[in-house]
Amino acid sequence: MSTNPVGIFDSGIGGTSIFKEIHQLLPNENIIYLADSLNAPYGEKSKAEIIQLSIKNTELLLSKGCKLIVVACNTATTNAISKLRASYNIPFIGIEPAIKPASLHTKTKAIGILATKGTLTSSLFHKTSNIYSKDITVIEQVGEGIVPLIEDGKLNSPELKELLYSYLKPMIKVNIDYLVLGCTHYPYLIPLLTEMLPNTVKIIDSGQAVAKQTKAILEQNELLNNTISLSQVKFYTNRNVAVLKSFVDDEFQVEYLQF
Ligand code: DGL
Repeated sequence: MSTNPVGIFDSGIGGTSIFKEIHQLLPNENIIYLADSLNAPYGEKSKAEIIQLSIKNTELLLSKGCKLIVVACNTATTNAISKLRASYNIPFIGIEPAIKPASLHTKTKAIGILATKGTLTSSLFHKTSNIYSKDITVIEQVGEGIVPLIEDGKLNSPELKELLYSYLKPMIKVNIDYLVLGCTHYPYLIPLLTEMLPNTVKIIDSGQAVAKQTKAILEQNELLNNTISLSQVKFYTNRNVAVLKSFVDDEFQVEYLQF
């Protein structure tokens, strides 16, 4: 079982930011990545639809023998992970916006959170944000339109820059000193964000924490791959192979798959 792959899924290329952290920390692990780009953005879908898509991705990863699944998508985690955990007998690792460190360390008492509508309206997010946003100003901003542009390979387009700046403006106005990235597509915006935000603003994403948690859970379940061989990594997308390829190293295999 320990040589079986770790499965990772996202609504598209966003989870590759998580894949990179996991592969760096756990180079021995075989990994299968599913980019459900055909159904992106998940963030605009209903909870029921997000659950249904998460089940579809999970079933495919299970059919490929995955021993653990990383839900590399804040929207799918906040809406569907409890259902997945209740339905399948393998460990699931999720990702949620890191409000806690931002709210504990803010000096200006103002933080920003950029995430999808699906994440910001979920009850899991509300629960966490109620705990950590007591004495501070929290600007929650839906990043509507960002994911489709990234999925179309328009990461550096003027359109995306303009949209992003319109979302940051209210945050800059209230003098945030932390910006929490609540969507796995957004770490790819970091070069743009650092250009646009005052240099006093720290950007937080949860990629490294997810990789560490993946390692800990594999260890706890005695599922770490300790065999010394070259690990196999495979990426599947149900939309645009070229776009997914442009987000991962050339050494990795990227294939089209209908799912
Ligand atoms: N990458 C995803 C997330 O972390 C979902 C984006 C979307 O499909 O709307 O939320």
